[in-house]
Amino acid sequence: MARRPPVLRSVPQLRKTVGRFHRAGEKVALVPTMGALHDGHVSLVKLAQRRARRVVVSIFVNPSQFAPTEDFSTYPRTFESDLAALAALKVDLVWAPAVKTMYPEGFATRIAPEGPARAGLEDVSRPHFFSGVATVVSKLFIQVGPDIAVFGEKDYQQLKVVTQMARDLDLALKIVGAPTVRERDGLAMSSRNAYLSASERKTAPVLYRVLKDSAAKIKTGEKISDALAEGRSEIERAGFAVDYFEARHANTLAPIQSRKDGPVRLLVAAKIGTTRLIDNIGV
Ligand code: PAJ
Repeated sequence: MARRPPVLRSVPQLRKTVGRFHRAGEKVALVPTMGALHDGHVSLVKLAQRRARRVVVSIFVNPSQFAPTEDFSTYPRTFESDLAALAALKVDLVWAPAVKTMYPEGFATRIAPEGPARAGLEDVSRPHFFSGVATVVSKLFIQVGPDIAVFGEKDYQQLKVVTQMARDLDLALKIVGAPTVRERDGLAMSSRNAYLSASERKTAPVLYRVLKDSAAKIKTGEKISDALAEGRSEIERAGFAVDYFEARHANTLAPIQSRKDGPVRLLVAAKIGTTRLIDNIGV
């Protein structure tokens, strides 16, 4: 069995170890996660390893990005198998702070992102989500001090929010986006796929199929609004409740009517049973 990476739980310990990497002139990458690792996370780690000599993976289920009605307490926690996966990948360090290390008694500061965080996508049904993400991610950046940080395109709006935040706050690191890893039938990997019943799991790949079909239609000249309307009803026919299915400018996330107005990204969020799935694709 591969040797387990050191699991650090305190900021001074973390700073000491990462400080050693930096003093040795080694580039450091951070891959922030909430654990319940799957092949999507693994691909982020592998990308980080191609870009940096040292890779730190953080595992922290961040309470501040969950609404009281959301699944913080039931979110899958699989720490032992996560560690085994990270050991096999030869990750250098796992940063796994306790909630009270991240948010000690009296914690009173939040980052309030705007721009892409107010695009009218995830933020509509999850109004506090990006503030929770931006706060924890900025803390992770300050704690670890990486040269680069890798985020998945799976959470496309999150990637844009973090990129904007790094630019706005002059953070001395580069944000790197990584392509979405999918199951064989096209379903984007997600820790929340574990919530799907067998029949929901069978239906779930409809999302990606519709994204692909819609992108193809738009590429061959169909009006974006028509392609979206057709796609939306197909997703609904499959049994989903659609939260949004939209075309946005791939960089700014502003609404976009035509391919002439810039690169287009299609983004969808839909609920099947009690599970909310999100996905997106470039046109
Ligand atoms: P989590 O959902 O664990 O995801 C961690 C990282 O893995 C994110 O950058 C996410 O976009 C990426 N990821 C998830 N599924 C993926 C897939 N199928 N293919 C490629 N990458 C994928 O996103 C979070 O955690 C949190 O919001 C976090 C950024 C850690 C802040 O708490």
